[in-house]
Amino acid sequence: MSIDFHAPTNRFSYAGREAQPDWAAVIRSLVDPAAKRVADIGCGGGIYSAAWADLGAAEVTGVDFSAEMVRTASERNRGRPNIVFKQGDARATGLASDSADIVFERALIHHLKDYDACFREAARLLVGGGLAIVQDRTPEDVALAGAPEHIRGYFFECFPRLLETEKVRRPTEQAVERALRGAGFGALQTVTVWETRKRHDDFRGLAADLRGRVGRSILHALTDGELNELVDFIGRRLPANAPVVEKDRWTIWSGTKA
Ligand SMILES: C[S@@+](CC[C@H](N)C(=O)[O-])C[C@H]1O[C@@H](n2cnc3c(N)ncnc32)[C@H](O)[C@@H]1O
Repeated sequence: MSIDFHAPTNRFSYAGREAQPDWAAVIRSLVDPAAKRVADIGCGGGIYSAAWADLGAAEVTGVDFSAEMVRTASERNRGRPNIVFKQGDARATGLASDSADIVFERALIHHLKDYDACFREAARLLVGGGLAIVQDRTPEDVALAGAPEHIRGYFFECFPRLLETEKVRRPTEQAVERALRGAGFGALQTVTVWETRKRHDDFRGLAADLRGRVGRSILHALTDGELNELVDFIGRRLPANAPVVEKDRWTIWSGTKA
């Protein structure tokens, strides 16, 4: 089974953590966010919408096709007048043309079959010279071995069938570059980055996150019994009573609208 982004039960899946300094550093290496208008497409619970505002963006508009995500993101960012959320599809957001300096799409495109329509929409939203930033995990990122800081790698050691699911749904570096070029983006750059996902005081915090299937859609492909098996498998590989710093490797593509 895959995650249902529209289910009220999943509405906090992408809201319960903060973007970390390593993410902010890589973004700053690509663009100066100060005073920019940012469209965060597939914004989930608005973690990164808030992060863009924290980096100095003038306005952030988060868009998600799930009413539940939009509700959660709005609640999470209440009281921040320069962050707004709207329901809309990544391929037809309903936002005005030429209304953004930066379009950001994190962990979105592996849920889409058609990157072309999504990137054409990003190009429509951007002003000339504006920057599209796409962050996702390639099959190579996903296939990295498990380690105490790379918890996700353990998922595939324990359940190899999940890796087959990932290989099918994750974007290759070349497919994204091709689609960005096709949508009219130039000056393409592709970088990889280890992003800290979350720090847990000890294994119990991580176990609760995993059992709740928080923020990792692939866990929806496991039964409750299999999920318990995975949590035990990971527990046996981590030192007891020590903090867990979870990191994931990502690929970030960026391209400028001509
Ligand atoms: C894995 S979550 C990532 C959320 C957020 N970008 C983050 O990194 O924390 C993917 C998000 O994309 C949204 N989504 C999936 N398909 C979409 C589409 N066609 N149009 C708009 N949003 C979509 C989902 O509702 C979900 O909130």
